[in-house]
Amino acid sequence: MKSLLYITANPKSEANSTSLTVGRSLINEYVAIHSNAPVTEIDVYRQHIPLVDEHFLSARQKISSGVEPVVLLPKEKDITDQIHQLTSQFIEADVYVFAFPLWNFGVPPLLKAYVDTIKVARKTFRYTPDGPEGLLENKTAVLIQSSGDVYSYGPLKEFEHGSRYLTSVLSFIGVDRIETIYMEGMDKNKDEAQEKKHQAVTRAVELAWAL
Ligand SMILES: Cc1cc2nc3c(=O)[nH]c(=O)nc-3n(C[C@H](O)[C@H](O)[C@H](O)COP(=O)(O)O)c2cc1C
Repeated sequence: MKSLLYITANPKSEANSTSLTVGRSLINEYVAIHSNAPVTEIDVYRQHIPLVDEHFLSARQKISSGVEPVVLLPKEKDITDQIHQLTSQFIEADVYVFAFPLWNFGVPPLLKAYVDTIKVARKTFRYTPDGPEGLLENKTAVLIQSSGDVYSYGPLKEFEHGSRYLTSVLSFIGVDRIETIYMEGMDKNKDEAQEKKHQAVTRAVELAWAL
């Protein structure tokens, strides 16, 4: 039984968000198929995502200096525990579903903050003499991204750093299967946007069966 981590990054309500609506369709279907599968949700806009700060960096410095015993100050220990808890939660899941809008060509900032908690040296990747190596194995990710404009072709093709960025990070840490559901041009034509949303829901439901 595969455990699923549903990561959402959108301050909007589900009813008002295309990416969240499509994401929920996938999750509902997954739960209907695998009623006993553990599904955990992280809403980066409604739960506290710790930021990499001076205390985390000084703790990291102490830990990597190799000097034993490592003695962390309370603030260093606190932020390190918070971040590593999210790292461990991510490592333990088998399937990741990310739902988010494209914001200013990238992912919403709190999703970037979340990525900082999962791309962690010696936990999800490591450096070897032959270069960096992802430490995750047998993982699948689904990226559900909604954007106002179109990026799959045309003048903005090189401007899309949302799903492209997440794909880079996830591949880097070893996620070997990455599926995408794009809803593009959502702010252009209302009727077309509605149709694109329906199509995306259909694909999300199909994908739930293939996870
Ligand atoms: C702060 C902000 C920044 C945005 N930046 C972009 C952008 O760079 N490119 C784009 O195509 N759409 C951009 N949009 C539009 C959203 O990506 C688009 O409306 C999307 O469909 C929203 O998805 P949602 O309904 O899940 O929130 C932006 C919207 C907001 C609120």
